[in-house]
Order: sequence, then C-alpha cells, then structure tokens
Amino acid sequence: MTEAKFTPRVFSGIKPSGGLTLGNYLGAIKRFVGMQGPAFETIYCVVDLHAITVWQDPVDLRNATREVAAGYLAAGIDPAKSVLFNQSQVHEHAELGWIFNCVARVGWMNRMTQFKEKAGANAEKQSLGLYAYPSLMAADILLYHATHVPVGEDQKQHVELTRDIAAKFNHDYKVDFFPLTTPVIDGPATRVMNLRDGTKKMSKSGESDMERINMTDDADTISKKLKKARTDAAPLPEKVEGLEGRPEAQNLVDIFAALSDMTPEAVIAEHGGAGWGTFKPLLADLAVEKLAPISGEMARLMADPAEIDRILGQGAEKARAIAAPVLKRTYDIVGMLRN
Ligand code: TYM
Repeated sequence: MTEAKFTPRVFSGIKPSGGLTLGNYLGAIKRFVGMQGPAFETIYCVVDLHAITVWQDPVDLRNATREVAAGYLAAGIDPAKSVLFNQSQVHEHAELGWIFNCVARVGWMNRMTQFKEKAGANAEKQSLGLYAYPSLMAADILLYHATHVPVGEDQKQHVELTRDIAAKFNHDYKVDFFPLTTPVIDGPATRVMNLRDGTKKMSKSGESDMERINMTDDADTISKKLKKARTDAAPLPEKVEGLEGRPEAQNLVDIFAALSDMTPEAVIAEHGGAGWGTFKPLLADLAVEKLAPISGEMARLMADPAEIDRILGQGAEKARAIAAPVLKRTYDIVGMLRN
C-alpha cells in the first residue's frame, strides 16, 4: 500500500480521566502543537468513550472533558488550524469500533500489555470495554484515514494493532481502503517517569500527588515538586551514556531537554558535572517558565465552559464531515444494506 493515496493526516487523543500530567504534555500535547502546520491536517480528540472503560462519575467526566480541551487550547492547539472535538459527539467512532471488534482477534487483544497492567489480577472484574478498547482506538484513527499518530511510548502497541486491523480489513474485503498508520514516537519525552520512582511511568492516578506534575499546578507547586524529586547522590554525568542505569537522573534530564527543545546530549554538554543542588533549581525555573502560563490559561478557559463546549461542538461538525463518508464506505464494503 502506498501512503501517497492518503492525505497526510494526524490523529491523536487523550482520555478525560483524572487530570492532565506533564507526561501528557511533553509526550503528547506539546508534540501535537508542533505538528500543526502545512505538512499535515491535524485532528485532536478528547476520547470520552475511552474514559468510561473504567468507572467515571458523570459530573467529573464532563468536567474532565472540558479540562482536557482547555489543556489542548492553552498549550497551543488552535481550532482554526486543527479539528478539536470530543469523541462521543461523533457517533461514527462507536460504529466503526463495532466493525473492528469483528475484525480484531481475541488473541490479539490478549497480547495487549496495557490491559494486563490495568486489569492486574482482576481481569474478570474489568469491563468488556476495557478489553475491547484498542479496537475503538483503531476506529478513532482509521475513521479519518490518519497516516500519522503521535503518541507516547505506552501507546505504541495499540497503534501497531491498528495497523493489523487495517491490514486484515483490507485483506478480508479485498480492498485498499484503510491506511497503515505510522506511530510517531519521537523526542526526549515519550516516556516521562514518576518523580518519586524513575522506574514507573508518570500517570494521572498514583498514590501521591508529589509523583507527578499536573498541568493545572501553579508555579510554587511545580517548583516544589521538581526540587523534591527523587535522585541518586551522584552529580550529572559528563556524557549522556553515564545516565544509563540512573532512571531518576535520566528522567530529569529528559524533562529538561523536552521543555527547552534541546537533546539530552546538549543538556549534558551544558550541565554535565553539576550537582542536583544546582541542576534542580534550574529545572524548576525552566518548568515554571514553560508550564505556569499554560496552567494560568487553562484556569481562564475553564471559567467559561460554554465557550469550550462551543469549540468542541464546532470541531465535532468538522470531524463528522470527514468521518461520515468513511463510515458509509465501510458499511458498503462490509455489505450492510442501506437505502
Ligand atoms: P492517555 O489518555 O493515557 O494519554 C494521552 C497521551 O499522553 C501520552 N502519555 C505520556 N507520554 C509520555 N510520558 C508519560 N508519562 C505519558 N503518559 C501519557 C500517551 O502516550 C498518549 O499519547 N489510548 C490513548 C488515547 C487514545 C488515542 C486514540 C491516542 C484513544 N484513541 C487514538 C491516539 C490515537 C490513551 O489512553 O492515552
């Protein structure tokens, strides 16, 4: 299959479950902003249908949906340049998701590490939706014939599954209809780690708020969390290879690099040999400089929920204009009788 057949189009999504973290910002949103421009059509989504694969209080869910939208907007997603909407307003996602449930194989789902991690020993008690989640994610992407999907490292397997679903659909129905989407996982912050344990991913849910930076944290909180971040005792190495086996040090250097648009090599070239007493305050100042304006803008946007709802509604209309013909064609290919 040649990619030239498909318009270069980016799709990505974020779940409105809990708040946004620095991981979501550096691993996703900041990179989404960077892809806006002439090279791609960009479509960004608040994936509320994915959020309810685990229990969400309805009032909290609506609020979290607006907060993710505010995060996108505050960080620089421009509704004039990108399609920005929430998933449930475009019913085609759920419909294509069903068709893909009938394409994906149980064996493929059984290999999904994120389900295993989330379900733990309690797989039997999880929702069927949590298990089927990756085929809805494939539908999100393929409904727009997206060619590129920027995500953090943890979503790589799901984008690969999306390619498997597209290939099987094309093969079974003898068509060349869905693209084989490329996952875009680049830059120094595709896996931002927990500030208290550099071997664990920074996530929305976690025992202590000190483990993560929330996109809504104010300047003092950001600064305090980074200054108290766990490290080992040694200073920064003189060469980037010296970060190997030092997960906390690696993480703070990666965060510094991502926030300042530098490579980790360049950060080490500048700060190698520095002790944490020097480097952490520099990192804290940098993070405050970059993140505090975003959290301030999020608070301003959240004060006017009607405006956020309006933006998401308009985005949904634009999304539907792309999605509806793709779903219609899919139904035709599959053999659904329609008038
Ligand atoms: P979600 O909501 O868990 O995370 C949204 C995005 O943030 C990235 N991310 C991170 N990146 C680096 N370091 C971290 N600590 C970190 N934590 C989160 C994720 O990799 C992701 O890119 N299944 C998806 C949502 C989704 C989706 C899609 C994504 C649904 N449909 C279609 C792309 C395309 C998820 O749960 O992401």
